[in-house]
Amino acid sequence: MDVGEWLRSLGLGEYEPAFRDNRVDGEILPNLMKELGVASVGHRRKLLSAIAKLSERSAEAPAVPEAHRAGPLAHDAAERRQLTVMFCDLVGSTAMSARLDPEDMRGIIAAHHKCCASLIERNGGFVAKYMGDGVLAYFGYPQAHEHDAERAVGAGLAIVEAAPKLETSAGAPLHVRIGIATGIVVVGDLLGSGEAQERGVVGDTPNLAARLQGIAESDSVVIADGTRKLLGDLFELSDLGPQNLKGVAGPTRAYAALRESSQESRFDALHAGGLTALVGREEEIELLLRRWAKARAGEGAVVLLSGEAGVGKSRLTAAFLERLSGQPHTRLRYFCSPQQTDSALHPIIGHIERAAGLARDDTLQTKLDKLDALLQKTSTSGEDSALFAEMLSLPNVGRHPLLELAPRQRRQRTMDALINQVEVLSSSVPVLMVFEDAHWADPTSLELFGRLVSNIARHRVLLIVTFRPEFEPPWIEQAHVTALALNRLAPCEVDIMIDHIVGNNPLLATVRQDIIERTDGIPLFVEEMTKAVLEAVSEDEAWRTAALVPSPTMAVPASLHASLMARLDRLGPAKELAQIGAAIGREFSHELLVAGVIESVVFF
Ligand SMILES: Nc1ncnc2c1ncn2[C@@H]1O[C@H](COP(=O)(O)OP(=O)(O)OP(=O)(O)O)[C@@H](O)[C@H]1O
Ligand SMILES: [Mg+2]
Repeated sequence: MDVGEWLRSLGLGEYEPAFRDNRVDGEILPNLMKELGVASVGHRRKLLSAIAKLSERSAEAPAVPEAHRAGPLAHDAAERRQLTVMFCDLVGSTAMSARLDPEDMRGIIAAHHKCCASLIERNGGFVAKYMGDGVLAYFGYPQAHEHDAERAVGAGLAIVEAAPKLETSAGAPLHVRIGIATGIVVVGDLLGSGEAQERGVVGDTPNLAARLQGIAESDSVVIADGTRKLLGDLFELSDLGPQNLKGVAGPTRAYAALRESSQESRFDALHAGGLTALVGREEEIELLLRRWAKARAGEGAVVLLSGEAGVGKSRLTAAFLERLSGQPHTRLRYFCSPQQTDSALHPIIGHIERAAGLARDDTLQTKLDKLDALLQKTSTSGEDSALFAEMLSLPNVGRHPLLELAPRQRRQRTMDALINQVEVLSSSVPVLMVFEDAHWADPTSLELFGRLVSNIARHRVLLIVTFRPEFEPPWIEQAHVTALALNRLAPCEVDIMIDHIVGNNPLLATVRQDIIERTDGIPLFVEEMTKAVLEAVSEDEAWRTAALVPSPTMAVPASLHASLMARLDRLGPAKELAQIGAAIGREFSHELLVAGVIESVVFF
C-alpha cells in the first residue's frame, strides 16, 4: 500500500513526510499516531476509521493476487522458511480443450480453480499462482501454521474428493493429480510486475512438488518423504518406493496419501513409534490420583490442565490413563482438532463414531445398527437416539421417532441427552472423561462442557480438560474444579530425558549442554533436538568430527519449524525484533537490540 497516496486521498497529505521517514504502514499506525505528531483528535479519528476500512477491504479481497501484496514482506526482504508446496493439475485437460469450445473450457477451468482455492484456503493454505489449469499453493507462507504439512495433505485429499463432483460442461467428471513437498526455501523478491507479480520461492521444494504431481495417478495425492516425516500416523499412506525424478538428485522416496487415519487421538497418531519414558511430573500424577479417588467416591471433580505447546499435557494424561489401567472405569475421550474449530460438536461426534465402531465404508443400515447397539447399553430412549443419529448426520429412515423441534430446542435437547448419557454411565462404574485441546473447541462443545462441569459435581466422574494458555476456561470458580498449570522441566529432568532418548548412542557433553540450554525445558523441543542430533549422527560417518562443531547438527529440526514459525508470524511487526535478537544470540542488552534495529532500517 502506498501510504502517501492513501494519506492524500484522506486530505491528510501533510503527514506524509513523517510517515515515510518512520516507515510506517497500516499495521503499526494505530499505536504510533501521537509519536508521529498527529495531535488533532479529529485527524486521529479520521485515520483510525480509514485504517479499519482498509483491513475490512483486505479481508474481503480474493487471495490472488492481493494477498501477495498484503504478505508480511512489506519491503523486498528475502526470508528463509519451511514451506509445504502443493501442485494440483487437472487430468486430461489438453484432450479436453481439443474437444470443447474455448468458452466452455474456460468455465471448466474456472470451476476447478474456485474449488481448489476454497479448499486450500479452508485448510489454511495460500493460492500462489494459477498456471493454466494447474494451481500452485503454499502452506506456511505468508502465515505459518503449526500443522502446515497436515493441512496441505488434508486439502489435497479434499480436492481429489471434490473435483469429480463438480458440475461442469465437460460432460464427464473432472479428475486431478496432486504433488506435495516440504522443505526449506527462501521466499524473496517480487518477480514480474502488476497483476502477475509473484513472490519468488527459491529452493528444491517447488520442483519436487511439481515432479511428484507428474508421477501421481489420477485422483491421487503424492507426497515427498520430508512431508511424510511430519505427519506421523495421521494419514494412511502407500509407499510408492524410490522414484527417479527429473531435476532431483538420486532416487527419491514418494508416498501416496490415501485417507485420514482412524487413530483415536492426535497424540497417539503422532507418537506411533513409541513414547519417551516419563520424566518428573510425580506431583501432578499424585494430584490426579487424589481427584480420581474422590470422583470414585461420588464427589465428581474437574482438573483444568493447562500449559504451552509441547510442555507435556498429553503425555501426562497418557501416563495417568496408564496408571488407571487395572481399575474398572469407563473412559470417554474427546479430541478437538485445529481443523474443526467451527464444526459443531466435532469432538463429541468423533467420540461416538469411535465408540460405536462406525467405519467409513459402512452402509447407512450398518451405521444405524452399530449406533443403536451402543445406545442400548445405556438404555437410551427413542427420542434421544433420534437426536444422536441426527448429530452424526445419519438420515432418519423411520427407525427413530421424527422430532419436530426448532433448531435451538434441538440443540438443547441434544445437550440434555449427552449429559444424561454421562450420568447413566457413571451410575454403574466411575467415568473418566478427557477433553483434549479445548483451545480448538467449537462453541457448542464448549457450552456442553460448561454444563457438564457444573453437573458432574454430584456424580462419579473425573473430567480432565487440557488446553494451551491462550484459552481461558470460564469454569474456574467452582469448588470441585482444580486448575493445574504444567511448568517446563528443570535442567536435571531434561538431562534424564536426553538419556532416555539417546540410549546407548554417544553424545558429547558439549552437545548435551547445548540441547539443555536451547530447549528451555520444553520436552517437545528436547525430544526433537536430540533426535535431530542423533539422525545427523547416523547420516554422517564422521560423526565425531561433526559433533566437535555442534552448529550444523543443532539446526532447528523440521518437525519444529512450522510451530516456531507460526509463533513468530503471530508476533506481527515484532517478528523483526525477534529475528534481530536471534541473530545476536540468546542474551542481549536493550542497547544492542536498538542498535540492531537501526542497522536493519538503514540497510534494508
Ligand atoms: N515429562 C515428560 N517426560 C518425557 N517425555 C515427555 C514429557 N512431557 C512431554 N514429553 C514428550 O514431549 C512431547 C510433547 O509433549 P505433549 O505432546 O504431551 O505436549 P502437549 O503439552 O500436549 O502439547 P500440545 O499443546 O501441542 O498438545 C511428546 O512427544 C511427549 O511424549
Ligand atoms: Mg497435547
